[in-house]
Amino acid sequence: MDRYAVIGHPITHSLSPQIHTIFAKQTQQALEYEGIELPLTSFETRLWQLIKSGYLGFNVTVPFKGDAFDFVDELSERSKRARAVNTIKILPDGRSMGDTTDGIGLLNDLQDNLGWKLDGANVLILGAGGAVRGVLDPIIAANPASLTLANRTLEKAEELADDFAQITPSSFEELSGRFDIIINGTSASLSGQLPPISESLINPDVKCYDMMYSAEPTAFLKWALQLGAVDVSDGLGMLVGQAAESFYCWRDVRPEVKPVIDALRGQLT
Ligand code: ATR
Repeated sequence: MDRYAVIGHPITHSLSPQIHTIFAKQTQQALEYEGIELPLTSFETRLWQLIKSGYLGFNVTVPFKGDAFDFVDELSERSKRARAVNTIKILPDGRSMGDTTDGIGLLNDLQDNLGWKLDGANVLILGAGGAVRGVLDPIIAANPASLTLANRTLEKAEELADDFAQITPSSFEELSGRFDIIINGTSASLSGQLPPISESLINPDVKCYDMMYSAEPTAFLKWALQLGAVDVSDGLGMLVGQAAESFYCWRDVRPEVKPVIDALRGQLT
């Protein structure tokens, strides 16, 4: 049976084995998918061992997306821009190909699942870490009218603006304007915190997205709802969307995401 795995540290809470097992059943692909925790200090050696033992592909999660970027023999254009790899495919000749599917997973969730059109929208992204860099290319390709990127440390927003010309960098304090879509890509939600942005950014038409997901709405989404945002969503659909694109990269078949999002949502609550 063809074997795939998600590799990370820690890995116990990863939903990827469940997601890919459902995808395999749905598309009638004969494969096994498991979670493997790699030691923090021997990523490369352990990954070589897994490849030699016959695995055909991997998802890569925290904290190894940069290590995977350095490891692979070939990189997709989008992973070069993201400077991260979340999907590895082992080619028939044994070489490894690295891709990143986080951005397309986010874009598909926003546009296809939620119906939030980016074309012509004024978009604000909060955060300037690896997670945000990984999604910028597809967001820009979707043709927003403007793309503002605000971060606690302004210099990091400015560095991203150097690499992605469409971005207007900002500090949280200086943020103003009317946005149609606000995407929280900071890790503040992990600790139940809010990025310190002005309440005036939440207008009655704004849609707010948090790239994190949890059983309860994140602090950012609760805050936005209380202030009257028209729609909010967490990042569960992005998680399933990036998995679907990885599955497609390996198997050439695109699974349906909606039933999987619904099944996982039911388990979370
Ligand atoms: P990730 O891989 O999740 O992007 P990261 O590269 O460490 O992780 O980036 C974390 C992001 O969340 C950064 O933009 C960080 O802001 P700084 O660049 O100023 O550090 C942001 N962040 C983390 N905690 C935050 C908080 N409590 N409020 C606002 N921004 C926060």
